[in-house]
Amino acid sequence: MGRPKITVVGAGNVGATCAHWAAARELADVVLVDIVEGMPQGKALDLMQARPIFGFNVEVVGANDYEATRDSDVTIITSGIPRKPGMSREDLINTNKNIVAEVTRQVMAKSPNTFIIVVANPLDAMCYVAKKVSGLPRDRVMGMAGILDTARFRCFIAMELKVAVEEIQAMVLGGHGDEMVPVVSATNISGLPLTDLLPEARINALVERTRKGGGEIVALLKTGSAFYAPAAGAVQMAEAILKDQRRLMPVSAYLTGEYGLHDLFFGVPVILGAQGIEKIQIVKLSAAEEALLKSSAAAVAKTRDELKM
Ligand SMILES: NC(=O)c1ccc[n+]([C@@H]2O[C@H](COP(=O)([O-])OP(=O)(O)OC[C@H]3O[C@@H](n4cnc5c(N)ncnc54)[C@H](O)[C@@H]3O)[C@@H](O)[C@H]2O)c1
Repeated sequence: MGRPKITVVGAGNVGATCAHWAAARELADVVLVDIVEGMPQGKALDLMQARPIFGFNVEVVGANDYEATRDSDVTIITSGIPRKPGMSREDLINTNKNIVAEVTRQVMAKSPNTFIIVVANPLDAMCYVAKKVSGLPRDRVMGMAGILDTARFRCFIAMELKVAVEEIQAMVLGGHGDEMVPVVSATNISGLPLTDLLPEARINALVERTRKGGGEIVALLKTGSAFYAPAAGAVQMAEAILKDQRRLMPVSAYLTGEYGLHDLFFGVPVILGAQGIEKIQIVKLSAAEEALLKSSAAAVAKTRDELKM
């Protein structure tokens, strides 16, 4: 039995880091594809040369075409331009729509049964492009955002309480934009409600920092956007599928009526396993959270409509 295969399209910051995390965890052989000649090959060779040091035994290859991607089990699409300071994710729509559509066509020609995990922004709209172009069922096309947004929230809470990050359970739902919804009512620290451990004003500040978490990093970096944690999120999704982990995680999924939403990719809790999205979980939210989710959905629907697909 061969090893599973992950294709990562776009060998920039997020893509190369996906290859790094996936290879270091010996999750699969990795094919790194980019339009820039030599760059994916160079990064792949560099990663191959790290194997004797840390002792991981998978193959990493770089390519400018899709031949090596044939029969990929999972494809992570990171190709697209990132934000610059002052830009919103939505500002990327036209450029990235064309890139994601073209890439999806190429991926499907070689791997018609792959699972697609989209990372390119604006995330929920780019998932829509990948689903429309691929024609894949909804269990096979999904977006990575909620895991990242949740990780940011967990990280900020852990920093505030000076507690290990693993103790923080939380979930951020909704669109991957500044209107995302950190679900405070579902947040706990080893079972203890967050609301018992921090005053409301501090919780609100952490929620706000989470919502602007991507922008905070864009402003610090000045060129490009976050990549270590986004790549970790995408690789965690690939791992849940490849190892049939049935993890319950927030994922951008295609909704057909769940949460009262239709024909929209939106961040919701799903069970992720060998069949991809195996279940969309419905959670009870407070009235305030429900209102926030509605306004986030309206923003995502507006961007989807701009795609004109
Ligand atoms: N969903 C999330 O939470 C999240 C988090 C971080 C970044 N992102 C998004 O991910 C995308 C990538 O970010 P990055 O920091 O890696 O950017 P980057 O500029 O470092 O890398 C993008 C790569 O895509 C390549 N590319 C462009 N067109 C291509 C094509 N047609 N085929 C193959 N490769 C192509 C570029 O050559 C470049 O190497 C951006 O859209 C960014 O906004 C999303």
